[in-house]
Amino acid sequence: MWQRVRRWALIALAFLAWAGIAPAQAGAPKPVIERAAKGDRCVEDTAFMRRNHMELLKHHRDETVHLGIRTRKYSLKGCIDCHASKETGSVAAAKDDFCVSCHAYAAVKIDCFDCHSTKPQGAAQATARLDGARKRLADATRALGMKDIVGVAR
Ligand code: HEC
Ligand code: HEC
Ligand code: HEC
Repeated sequence: MWQRVRRWALIALAFLAWAGIAPAQAGAPKPVIERAAKGDRCVEDTAFMRRNHMELLKHHRDETVHLGIRTRKYSLKGCIDCHASKETGSVAAAKDDFCVSCHAYAAVKIDCFDCHSTKPQGAAQATARLDGARKRLADATRALGMKDIVGVAR
């Protein structure tokens, strides 16, 4: 319950400040929320997203990790594809990047990017990963071959 109230208060404050009508003192930092680089609308209403993105993400993560369900609608990769900054190419590299801007203002810390990439998985990165995997496969095949030879030689 208090979690809820606190969240509303934080979101209202962040939004008011962003809109430049905050009761905050002059000179107080305001979150600058960067516009989405792609798409003309979010996966849900913007206002809904502002309030509920954390629930969508967490719910989705639990479904994915614990239940093995993978839907694409609320995928974190999707958020990053559209919301990565044009300048840094990331949602969390600079203080004005999308996921950081409000969070810094509202003093929210998330650990998501310890594991998840903050940048869109572009074609180049995907190709690099595939190449890496192919190389490892080739190495493993070679190693396996050697072992067989060693085994036969004995
Ligand atoms: C198809 C592109 C697209 C995807 C995918 C997407 N968004 Fe959005 N999002 C937008 C657009 C467009 C807006 C409207 C505001 C703007 O233009 O930046 C928006 C708005 C938002 C807002 C409100 C920002 C504000 O100004 O108050 C939040 C929060 C948000 N998105 C989070 C997310 C999250 C979290 C995900 C992943 C679950 C996600 N978005 C996926 C395009 C996208
Ligand atoms: C310890 C590492 C770790 C951390 C920290 C972590 N995740 Fe994940 N996350 C994973 C793994 C592993 C998967 C499964 C990937 C798969 O199977 O597709 C996953 C999957 C997801 C998915 C579904 C796949 C996608 O791209 O949409 C979402 C959404 C998600 N995590 C959100 C979050 C959010 C939000 C946070 C922070 C609150 C977070 N994760 C923190 C490891 C992590
Ligand atoms: C419009 C401002 C805004 C934007 C943009 C925004 N967030 Fe948030 N986010 C918040 C606020 C405010 C909270 C804290 C709510 C609370 O305390 O319960 C929050 C909380 C979260 C939480 C839950 C943290 C926790 O400890 O429970 C996650 C996960 C999260 N955001 C992920 C993201 C991701 C990923 C992005 C970028 C795709 C993003 N947010 C962009 C305002 C924003």
